[in-house]
Amino acid sequence: MISVVGIGITKFGELWNMSPRTLASQAGNAALKDAQLEPKDIDGFIVANMLSGMLGNQEHLGALFAEELGFAHIPAMKVEGACASGGLALYTAVNSLLSGQYKRVMVLGVEKMTDHKPESVASALIGAGTSEERMSGMTFPGVYALLARAHMEKYGTTEEQMASVAVKNHFHAYANPNAQFHTILTIEKVMKSACVADPLKLLDCSPISDGAAAVILQASDLKRQKPTIQIVASSVATDTLGVAQRKDVTALHATHLAAKKAYTQAGVSPKNIQVAEVHDCFTIAEVLAMEDLGFFDRGKAAGMIVEGKTTLGSGSGVIVNTSGGLKGCGHPVGATGVKQMVEIVEQLRGSAGKRQVDGAKIGLTHNVGGSGATCVVHILKKEA
Ligand code: COA
Repeated sequence: MISVVGIGITKFGELWNMSPRTLASQAGNAALKDAQLEPKDIDGFIVANMLSGMLGNQEHLGALFAEELGFAHIPAMKVEGACASGGLALYTAVNSLLSGQYKRVMVLGVEKMTDHKPESVASALIGAGTSEERMSGMTFPGVYALLARAHMEKYGTTEEQMASVAVKNHFHAYANPNAQFHTILTIEKVMKSACVADPLKLLDCSPISDGAAAVILQASDLKRQKPTIQIVASSVATDTLGVAQRKDVTALHATHLAAKKAYTQAGVSPKNIQVAEVHDCFTIAEVLAMEDLGFFDRGKAAGMIVEGKTTLGSGSGVIVNTSGGLKGCGHPVGATGVKQMVEIVEQLRGSAGKRQVDGAKIGLTHNVGGSGATCVVHILKKEA
């Protein structure tokens, strides 16, 4: 079994005075401090990032950030899978540890987006789609707008129901000092925000963000802290890169497949999950995730979210996106999957402060690349 022994995170948002190096240093050193370890204790280093090459003309991030953190001569590399880069880097670290190659690996997700023009960022992001999607002028809000429209037609999902995802996640973000937004929303406010790609409005979208997050994973034969937070499932599934090639666009099949495998690995069912960080890059994405992860029946999730079933304080089942999710906490794409694990570890340690889900012992993270071409699911458990 693999345990998480250290976590570190920066604030998420428009961090104009922080370079990628500064972000990496802050999150990485915070994780080392949290684990009470020194750089010499880490023998493998994996960086998650999507856009540094395209936007910042900076590649070779493994060696760059290893130097920054004082990891002398250890194997260091970057893993990229669009917005699922963080989840994929964690998956790679888990499997490297299970192979016996390393004893302790740091996974660091970093992204710097706000220094660049919005049109350059939108164009770089759709690099995760197909050439046909790009040639037709699509951006990711446009792709997810198509998924939203299909879900609305099949299940009668409404724009107001989707808006309730943003209201909930901004409510949770309000209690997270590291979140990009500390603004309470209402359904009316979301409905009145500017149209980005019909039916998705500004406040249905995750923002452009800067930020970094780090975790330190450790093999089971090393001494552990108590309580131990274990990764009991790590699973990835893929699908066609473009949405046009899929039979059904009212679900993300790769999420369903990755989740099924993860539940089997962990020996749990969706009913056992008490807290989850899911990939709400657009409000419709959280609705899909709730159904694909098996938390609610198909076509029923949006209604349940409106009823507050997944909201901190009023929810009765799984509480979703206590960090504020991508919508409220921000979405520095390469850092997101790692941030999700940081939040679940805080929840299982019982150190999430005002965002704490009482008695949380089992949590899940769900990280999506592009329009669902890569989906990564991790399940974590607290062991006394
Ligand atoms: N949620 C809430 N507020 C947002 C926001 C969001 N997603 N995006 C921007 N804002 C706010 C800004 O803070 C700013 O507020 P202020 O005027 O009080 O300072 C205001 O809205 C305008 O911001 P601006 O930066 O001009 O927005 P924009 O029009 O350039 O970009 C989007 C808005 C929605 C187009 C952009 O955030 C976007 O492209 N999001 C999607 C990112 C994406 O595709 N990620 C990959 C997912 S697969």
